[in-house]
Amino acid sequence: MLFSPYPKTKREELFDRDEELREIKHAVERGERLILLLGIRRLGKSSLLNVALNELPYPSVKVDVRKTYSEYSSVSRYAIGRAIVSSLEGRRRLLEELKDFLSRIRGIAVSGLRIEVSPKGFSLTELLEALNEYGERKGRVIIAFDEAQYLRFGGATRYDGIIAYAVDNLENLTFVLTGSEVGLLFDFLKFHDPEAPLFGRYHHDIELKRFSPELSEEFLRKGFEEAGVPVGDDELRMAVGELDGIPGWLALYGYIRTTRNLGHDDAIAEVLKEAKAVVGRELSRLFSYSPRYRVILKAVALGYSRWRDIKDYVTMKLGYINDSNFSALLENLVKSGYVEKTGGGYRIPDPVLERVFREL
Ligand SMILES: Nc1ncnc2c1ncn2[C@@H]1O[C@H](COP(=O)(O)OP(=O)(O)OP(=O)(O)O)[C@@H](O)[C@H]1O
Ligand SMILES: [Mg+2]
Repeated sequence: MLFSPYPKTKREELFDRDEELREIKHAVERGERLILLLGIRRLGKSSLLNVALNELPYPSVKVDVRKTYSEYSSVSRYAIGRAIVSSLEGRRRLLEELKDFLSRIRGIAVSGLRIEVSPKGFSLTELLEALNEYGERKGRVIIAFDEAQYLRFGGATRYDGIIAYAVDNLENLTFVLTGSEVGLLFDFLKFHDPEAPLFGRYHHDIELKRFSPELSEEFLRKGFEEAGVPVGDDELRMAVGELDGIPGWLALYGYIRTTRNLGHDDAIAEVLKEAKAVVGRELSRLFSYSPRYRVILKAVALGYSRWRDIKDYVTMKLGYINDSNFSALLENLVKSGYVEKTGGGYRIPDPVLERVFREL
């Protein structure tokens, strides 16, 4: 179903994105080893990743690093190893083929369809080496890290070093990394830092864009048609005007309208309500670091776009803050994708969040 409010996995549920899918496939076929899928939240990175992994003829493992982090409050080698093997568990054919490769790895024991990882002595590098050997037989193995910027919380484990080692030496692996906090992801990968392990390494970046207004309307039209709910063109246009081409909001709007039998205005109100809840979930951690984040977001949402004007607004609300501290906070918001820096100054790239931030 086009409007289902969960990350898609099947080609027929994914609207458009043909070009991006083709680009991923070609990059993998060429044997590229590091592919990045980038874009702010709710553009459909996870959906695109899922569908690509499904469509490609190679075995793959996928780790939701954001989820791993929120479960364990860290992303230890063990947690990531555990996440990799649990994405193999239950896949009988794959496991049977992989069994011999896996059982040679320190800290891993395979019994039936279950794989045990022991926190002590487990080597992630050995696991990757085993997958690489398996990849030699299968053509390739794809290792996907969804929301890879969370790998920066590896503590003693330097995932950038592990990925660099794999990219340099394990020729049958392709890593696909997605990131909604694009600035944070690049800070972590440090391609431009001569001291960093991934310095100068080739990476194929695919930047997801929002749908154009025409495509957005077509997405809604197709989804409503599929659900058998008639909606007029003027309402489609209004919805796109308010939600822009962000697939996550468009799908949610469609889902709410078709499943709860609501009209346009009520559905938009529900989307905003959900967006408010989402902001609470996504940003509560950030807000607990500094109450200033909240006020900066509000200022930018209200239309203050210049550095000086945003700072003045924050000073007026919360008192003095020095320039460099303020810049650091603003920069963090840019790196996490909630604020965008353009030629014309700072702005909120997501119009739905912009409305929510105005009320902060
Ligand atoms: N091309 C698409 N066709 C149909 N639905 C889509 C498409 N892209 C995204 N969606 C829907 O939008 C929502 C967000 O998609 P998804 O979770 O894949 O985005 P994301 O970029 O991974 O977001 P996040 O950064 O929050 O993880 C989901 O409900 C998904 O079903
Ligand atoms: Mg995602």
